[in-house]
Amino acid sequence: MPLEACRVSPLDRGFVFGDAVYELIPAYARRAFCLQQHLARLERSLGQVHIQNPYTRTQWETMIGNLIQRSESADVAVYIQVTRGVATRDHPFPENAVPTVFAMANPLASIADETLQNGVALITIKDIRWQRCDIKVTGLLANILAKQDALQSSASEAILVRDGFALEGSSSNLFVVREGVVHTHPKDNQILPGITRDFVLELLTDLGREYREQAIPEDWLYSADEIWVTSSAREVLPATKIDQHVVGDGVPGKLWRDVYALYQERKA
Ligand code: PDD
Repeated sequence: MPLEACRVSPLDRGFVFGDAVYELIPAYARRAFCLQQHLARLERSLGQVHIQNPYTRTQWETMIGNLIQRSESADVAVYIQVTRGVATRDHPFPENAVPTVFAMANPLASIADETLQNGVALITIKDIRWQRCDIKVTGLLANILAKQDALQSSASEAILVRDGFALEGSSSNLFVVREGVVHTHPKDNQILPGITRDFVLELLTDLGREYREQAIPEDWLYSADEIWVTSSAREVLPATKIDQHVVGDGVPGKLWRDVYALYQERKA
C-alpha cells in the first residue's frame, strides 16, 4: 500500500515502549539473500521477547516476495518490524493485543568504488547497551548515539568496547585479522548474531582460511593486519583507520579482497 495509507496507532507499544523486534533482509535482482536465515532469526527474536509470531514461515516468504516484486528497485533492503500491538500504556503484556506488522522495501544503495578502494574509518566507543544484544530489538538508541559519534569524527562506524573487548559495530559485526588468523566475537548475549557474519565465516571455510570465534582484546584493534565490518546493508567493508591508528598498510587487505570477491561471486 502507499506510505500515506499506512496507519499505526500512537498507542502501539512499538512506538510507546520500543516493544518490538525487526529484521533487515537484502534482495538482489528481486531475490532475497539468505532469507531462511533472516526468518529464523526473526522467529527467534519474537520468541525471546514473547511476542506471538503472526505468520507462518510460508506467509512471511510470500509477503516478503510480494514486496520485493512490487518495489521500484531490483536491489532493495526489506525492513520488517513486529510490535506487541496496541494497548493502553501499561508495562505488563496486554491480554488481547494483536501484533502490528510493518514491512517496507527501500532501494539498497550500492557501495561506492572509492569506499572499496580506500576502506572506511572506525572509532571505538564504550558499549552502553543492555545485556541482550543478541535479540534484534528496535530500541536502538545506544547504537544511534554511537553511530552519530562516529559520523562526527568523520568515521563511518563505531566499534563498541565492553570490559576491554571489542564486540561489534553500532550496526555491524567486527572481524580482526591478526597473524594470519581471522577473529570475530562468539555468538553470545553481547552481539547481534549477524547473518552476514555467518556468511563470511562460510566463505572463509571455503577459502581454506582459519578463523576463531573468540573475544577480541581492544588493543588488538591497533595491531591488526586487517579489520572488516559486516552487515546485510554494507556486506563486508574493509577498515583502514581506527581512532588515530592506521590499520595494516593503510589499504584494504589481501584477505579482505579474497573474501569480497567470493562474496560477490556467491551473490551473483
Ligand atoms: N543492522 N550488529 C548490529 C548491532 C546490527 O545492527 C547489525 C545489522 C549487525 C549485522 O547483522 P546482519 O549481518 O544480519 O545485517 C550486527 C541492520 C543492518 C540495521 O539495523 O539496519
